[in-house]
Order: sequence, then structure tokens, then C-alpha cells
Amino acid sequence: MFVCPKCYHALWFFYPDQCVCGYVIPKIDSVYQFSDEPPVSLDQPGQRYLGYENVGENYEGCLEQEVDDYGIFGGCSRELVRLLGKGCIVLDLGTGLGPAAITLAVAGANTIAVDVSQRMLAIAAQRAAGRRMNSHLAFARMNAYNLAISNKSVDAVVAVDVLHQLDNPAVAVKEIIRVLKPGGVFIEYDSVSLPLTPEQHEINRRCSEALRDIRNHYYAALTKHGYAGPPFSSWEEVRETINRYFSAPELLPTDYVGVWTEKMRKGINKLKTRASGGAQLIPDDVHAAAWDEAHKNAVRKYGHNYIDIPGYSRYSGVVKVYRPKNEVLGDRQD
Ligand SMILES: C[S@@+](CC[C@H](N)C(=O)[O-])C[C@H]1O[C@@H](n2cnc3c(N)ncnc32)[C@H](O)[C@@H]1O
Repeated sequence: MFVCPKCYHALWFFYPDQCVCGYVIPKIDSVYQFSDEPPVSLDQPGQRYLGYENVGENYEGCLEQEVDDYGIFGGCSRELVRLLGKGCIVLDLGTGLGPAAITLAVAGANTIAVDVSQRMLAIAAQRAAGRRMNSHLAFARMNAYNLAISNKSVDAVVAVDVLHQLDNPAVAVKEIIRVLKPGGVFIEYDSVSLPLTPEQHEINRRCSEALRDIRNHYYAALTKHGYAGPPFSSWEEVRETINRYFSAPELLPTDYVGVWTEKMRKGINKLKTRASGGAQLIPDDVHAAAWDEAHKNAVRKYGHNYIDIPGYSRYSGVVKVYRPKNEVLGDRQD
């Protein structure tokens, strides 16, 4: 699976400590170092990326009340392992704090968790340490633009909310296709909303509107204080790229059903701590001024306890299974 960064020899061990060339893969905080590229790079047009190095714990993709199963992640990972079979090899690209990778390894997939941010990987490895796994789980620092993974060596690549952090998602998609075994699949985890009663719907509407209003206020204040916005982030380009390289996805429903009431709390925490790719780059003084304005506006409109405004959504997880189009598989090297 892994490729030695020094001699490019394949390393056919799940824990790739040393290559036959003698090179010892450096390990920091349980994370193999296959790249020493910066965690955020905005220098090269067409190859820019936003690793979450300044985000860390504040990026909580899952729900506080469900930390063991990480919300939809547990259900989706179990469904994926049912599809591929226990012992399959899965690469979780842009693993972040590791919710997909950890639940995949618990479900029985041999999992390689990859991210360009050492900080995110180190926290993910720490979170995994206390869990009982049913297969291997290795954490490796790599860049999605240039994976140190052998050709045709993994059964699936999972990428959840990652490709929009890349200036040029097509380069990463070509890497994904390169490392897939014949018959291998690209996977996204997604959530679908489930019906609500009129009362629940009303609770959720009020919460969403207040959060949108507070966010809009914050972003308007950022602009006023001279911040031009995140350097890039285009979901449209990601969708267009995926459609270019893969057939329409097969959708696998999961048996997971969750209720989420923490939309306001999570949303405000992410805003306040700049916990997203582009937001982490907002200068301290600009952020402090914009947050101060947004907070005062929120207190005026929604009261001091606005963070406690409840939300209500019911949702389930869906696994999206993409198969590469035949024409993009034709020229792959062995
Ligand atoms: C929005 S977070 C998603 C994390 C995780 N997949 C989840 O759903 O909770 C995006 C992750 O992609 C990582 N990332 C961004 N650019 C990357 C790159 N060029 N190579 C590898 N990882 C990258 C970030 O460091 C971050 O951890």
C-alpha cells in the first residue's frame, strides 16, 4: 500500500516502519510522516490547499452526544464494510479528527487515515488509542495531491468534506483513481434529513434563521474590516469534477437515525474559533472586531443565552458509492 518516500519501493506492511532501502519512516505522535509539505499552501496556483492545522479540536464534525459512533460516520462505515467485506483496505483521505477512519477500523476495515495536517492527525490518533479495533488503523501525513500509496492497492477511498479544500480537485481525483484496485470505489458519506412534526420544524426554522443571521453579521463585519473572504472553496467545481471522472453514485442507505439539537452551539463555536479551512486564515484583529460586532448583535436580538437556542433535525446517513468511468481507467499504470 505505502510507497517509500526515499526510494519509491512499495511497503507491503500495514505499519510501515522501515523500507528495505533502510529508510525509517519518521513517526511523530503515532503519525507516519510521508510528507513534510506545509499544512496550508496558498503559493502555487492550481495546487493550493487548506489543511486544518489551526483548527484542531474545534472542528467537531460529529455530535457531542454521540462521540462513540460519530453521528452518521458509524452507520456509514458499517455499511461500507458490509459492501466491501471485513479485511478490505480503505484509505480515508482528509481524515481530520478521524471519525470515518476510526469507525471503519472498528467495523473491520484495514484503514489508512491520511491528512496533510499533523495536528488533526495527532488528535485523531489519540482518539483512536482508547478504542477496540477489529482491524488495522494507521495514521499517515500525506498530501492529497501526491499520495505515497501504491498504484491499485486499496479497495476504497473515502473522502468526506475534503475536496473543496483543494484549489484543483481534479489532481486529487486522479490520485484517488490511481490507487484504487480494479473494481475499487470512491466513497462519500452524506446525511439525509428525515421528516419532522410541524412543532419540530418550527424549532429548527427559528434556530437556522438565527444562526444564518449571526453568521451574515459576522461575514459582513469581516468585509467591513478589510477581509476579502476565503481564498477558494468551490463545491460546484468538486461536483463537476466528480461527475467527470465517476459514474452517477449508487446510494446505500444506513440504519442510523440521529436527532440533532446542537446546531446553534456547534455553529457559534465554529464561527468564534475560526474552525474551517479558509476562516482559520482570518487575521486575529479582524476576527476579534468582527466577532465582537456579531456577538453584540446576537445578544441584542436573541438575548444573552442565544447559544442555547435549540435546533431540531432528524437525519440518517447515506453512503455514496462512485465507480470510475471506463474511459478514465484505461490508461492506468500497474
Ligand atoms: C472539512 S475537514 C473534514 C474532516 C473529516 N473528513 C470529517 O468529515 O470530519 C477537511 C480535512 O481535509 C484536510 N486537507 C485539506 N487539504 C488537504 C490536502 N491537500 N491533503 C490532505 N488533506 C487535506 C484538512 O486538514 C482537514 O482535516
